[in-house]
Amino acid sequence: MCGIVGILGNHEVAPQLVEALKRLEYRGYDSAGIATVNDAGTLDRRRAVGKLVNLSDRLVHEPLTGRAGIGHTRWATHGPATEGNAHPHRHGPVAVVHNGIIENFRDLRADLAQAGITPQTDTDTETVALLTGHHMAQGMCPVEAARATLARLHGAFALAFLFDGDGDLMIAARKGSPLAVGHGEGEMFVGSDAIALAPFTDRITYLEDGDHAIITRAGVEIYDAQGRRANRDMVRIDVGATAIDKGGYRHFMAKEIAEQPAVLGDVLNHYVKNGRIVLPESVSFADVDRVLLVGCGTAHLAGHVAKYWFEQIAGLPCDIDIASEFRYREPPLSDRSWAIFVSQSGETADTLAALHYAQGKVAKTLGVVNVGTSAIARESDIALPTLAGIEVCVASSKAFTCQLAVLAVLALKAAADRGRIDAAALAAHLDDLRAIPGLLNQALAVADDCRALAGWLSEAQDVLYLGRGALYPVALEGALKLKELSYIHAEGYASGELKHGPIALIDRNVPVVVLAPRDTLFEKTVSNMQEVMARHGKVLLISDADGITEAGEGTRATLTMPMGGGAFQPILYAVPMQYLAYYTAVAKGTDVDQPRNLAKSVTVE
Ligand code: AGP
Repeated sequence: MCGIVGILGNHEVAPQLVEALKRLEYRGYDSAGIATVNDAGTLDRRRAVGKLVNLSDRLVHEPLTGRAGIGHTRWATHGPATEGNAHPHRHGPVAVVHNGIIENFRDLRADLAQAGITPQTDTDTETVALLTGHHMAQGMCPVEAARATLARLHGAFALAFLFDGDGDLMIAARKGSPLAVGHGEGEMFVGSDAIALAPFTDRITYLEDGDHAIITRAGVEIYDAQGRRANRDMVRIDVGATAIDKGGYRHFMAKEIAEQPAVLGDVLNHYVKNGRIVLPESVSFADVDRVLLVGCGTAHLAGHVAKYWFEQIAGLPCDIDIASEFRYREPPLSDRSWAIFVSQSGETADTLAALHYAQGKVAKTLGVVNVGTSAIARESDIALPTLAGIEVCVASSKAFTCQLAVLAVLALKAAADRGRIDAAALAAHLDDLRAIPGLLNQALAVADDCRALAGWLSEAQDVLYLGRGALYPVALEGALKLKELSYIHAEGYASGELKHGPIALIDRNVPVVVLAPRDTLFEKTVSNMQEVMARHGKVLLISDADGITEAGEGTRATLTMPMGGGAFQPILYAVPMQYLAYYTAVAKGTDVDQPRNLAKSVTVE
């Protein structure tokens, strides 16, 4: 979480910093701030609580000049969202922006106290500025001072330092948190990701773990964790693919939901050609005895859906795990198993740590990742892109369905490699999968009905979501979406589990959303729905036309989904989950694209 940026430029840097921060706001929006060194060499800063727009307003009345600067958008970890706790933090001639957590900041504070230096903020980051300023007061030059500080830091960080009196020096460092260096014409940049730097340059060098960089307008010198000069490749990014606009929609989320037929089409064109699965040659499940799927939040739920496909279609035992639990549980892993890490950002700290845990213990690690340049994509043995394009809304929509599509292809490959299905069965499954983009297009038609239901849902205190089989994790995803977008308490349950406790919650004020396509589990799910209605529960039944005809009577409302999709129907049923949450949030007037307390890229534990 938190986004950082730094620029040694040839123009006034404050507007550029704000532009870059706009692209990093998905990392947090508790406060924002910038610091610049003006042409007289004076370091100064402006900070504001809340969204970036508050900082922009402040800069209109209290401008900052200078062609060198650093900026930050905060997701609060240590200390509330106040101006005092906002970055950049400053001590004497040093200003610092930070993403991550300095775990030993209390020890560092104790050392600083002995030198008579007292913190002014609640943050862990301030100790970095205090320590560096202290080193400079003892006679070290900025580079020596920053190095001496870096040597004392434990935890995760991406840092950028700026110094009073030197408008041509910036120091950047990373450990655990990502950091990109951008190369311009007589200008240099750093940013938490390349997308932030896309308005300025397409030439990027990714720092590796433990690296620090000494940056001037003339270029960058990179040093590795041992302090040796290091060569890191420069890559060109596709700036066109970094365009961020709402395309006429009111919110990014609405745009991203509507993009699903197109992006799912792209995914399937990439992984299925002429009726054949196209994956790297090394993806063969012939000798694999177990698959492990790990992720957080929605990415974890994508793995949960895929568990049904791996087990039912491929007959391959499959475990799923939440990355934050997996990494500390120390599960024994078979060296014939594969571990698959699912992540939109590819930077989620817990998922990355889970990948590190699995490395060397399993036969292969796979990353199913949307951001191709991310740590999980780079560090997995095999990276499979989910090709959803940039997802801006903090709540995941198209990234989820694209993850499902890639995992579906993997499950079918496993089934074929293990001889669980013959060519005809594989072709039938691939036909079902290829039909998904067209069916998604039809599924988008539920938008109007979801909008009409939003008034009802927005008045509820609690909402329950029920599903069976592979629709159970989709119910969990529906509840997660509603919680994060509308702040309404929601829970997902396996339909059959309801009578083991949660049914006590049912009364006429609790909307119950039932996901029940007319499949082999339909009758069972409908029985559970009847149990709800018998207790005056108000049901929203989501099914296909046959299912609605058969079981729609007596429900509060129904949503009709297209028929088809075979085993891959969960991908379709994600759409009403997304629209119900979206329109309920709009009805409640919450911040759809940037819900409170959240960040899109969760780079702290
Ligand atoms: C989804 O709507 C969430 N905002 C969140 O659960 C997200 O899926 C999770 O933080 C994992 O992120 P990742 O896919 O970038 O790893």
